[in-house]
Amino acid sequence: MRIIRSIKQMQKASRELAAKGKRIGLVPTMGFLHEGHLSLIKRALKQCDIVITTIFVNPAQFAPNEDLAMYPRDERGDIAKIEAAGGEIVFIPKANEIYPDDFQTYVEVEELTQELEGKKRPTHFRGVTTIVAKLFNITRPDVAVFGMKDFQQAAVLKQMTADLGYPIKFVIAPTVREKSGLAMSSRNKYFTDEQKTEALGLYYSLKSAKAMIKSGVRDARKVEREMRAVIKSHCRTAKIDYIAFTDINTLLPHSRVSKSTVCSLAVHIHGVRLIDNMKLA
Ligand code: PAJ
Repeated sequence: MRIIRSIKQMQKASRELAAKGKRIGLVPTMGFLHEGHLSLIKRALKQCDIVITTIFVNPAQFAPNEDLAMYPRDERGDIAKIEAAGGEIVFIPKANEIYPDDFQTYVEVEELTQELEGKKRPTHFRGVTTIVAKLFNITRPDVAVFGMKDFQQAAVLKQMTADLGYPIKFVIAPTVREKSGLAMSSRNKYFTDEQKTEALGLYYSLKSAKAMIKSGVRDARKVEREMRAVIKSHCRTAKIDYIAFTDINTLLPHSRVSKSTVCSLAVHIHGVRLIDNMKLA
C-alpha cells in the first residue's frame, strides 16, 4: 500500500508502473468511502494490474452555498478500506498543489452539462471535468471507473475522455445500494435513521416508475406524477428539484419511455440534496 501526496511523486510512480508494462486503473473519489466506491476499485482490479484511488474533495465543483466545508472526511478509515478492497496506491493531493494561486485553466464539456444537474449547479461540471482531466494527466491510467449513481457526471466525463483523445477505457459501474434500497452516498451520513427511511422515497419512486413501465405505461408525465406522490408519501417536506426522463447517452428528454430512457431525480430531504436514477425499460 502506497500513499502519495505530491503530484511529482504520483507522476513518477505511474511512469514507472507503465514502464514495467503494468495496466493502471484509476478510481477518483472525494473520500468518506462506502461500498459504492469500493465496488469501483474491485471493478478496476478486474481489468488492471494496479489501481490508483484518489481522494480529493474538489473545491472547484462546489458552489459557495454548497457543503464543501462540512463534506465528511475520514482519511484513515478510507485508506484501510481501499487496502482491504485491493487498492495498492492512494493519491491524496493537496488543494494548493492542484489549484495554485495562479491556476487559470479549466476543461468544459459544453452541451451535456446544460441539463439536469447543470441547471441547478451551473459551475459544478466544469469543476468535475477539470479535476478529472488533471487526475488523468497525473496518473495516466489505462482504465478509469466511475459510478452510474452519478449518471450525468459519467456521461459528461465519457464525452470529455473521447473529445480530448485520452487513451483510457471508460467504465461505468452499477449503483450500489444499502439493503433498504437507498443508493449509497457519502451524504447519507447527514441523516438520522428516521430521515434515512424518509429518503427511501427516491428509491421507491423509481421502483414504482419501473413497475408502471412494466404494466405498459409509456407517458413520462404520468410516471412523474406517480413518482412525486411516492416521494411525498415518504417525506412530507421533500423538495423535488427535478424528475427527468432522458436518453442514456445524449441526455435529451424523452416524453415516452423506451429502452434507452434513464429516469433521474434530485430531491432535498431535510436539507440534504440526494440524487438517484434507474433505467426504466
Ligand atoms: P464521489 O461522490 O466521492 O464519488 C466517487 C465515485 O464513486 C463516482 O464515480 C461516483 O459515481 C461513485 N459512486 C458514488 N456512490 C456510488 C454508489 N452508491 N454506487 C456506485 N458508485 C458510486 O463523484 C465524485 O466523487 C467526484 O465528482 C469526482 C468524480 C471524484 C471528481 O471530483
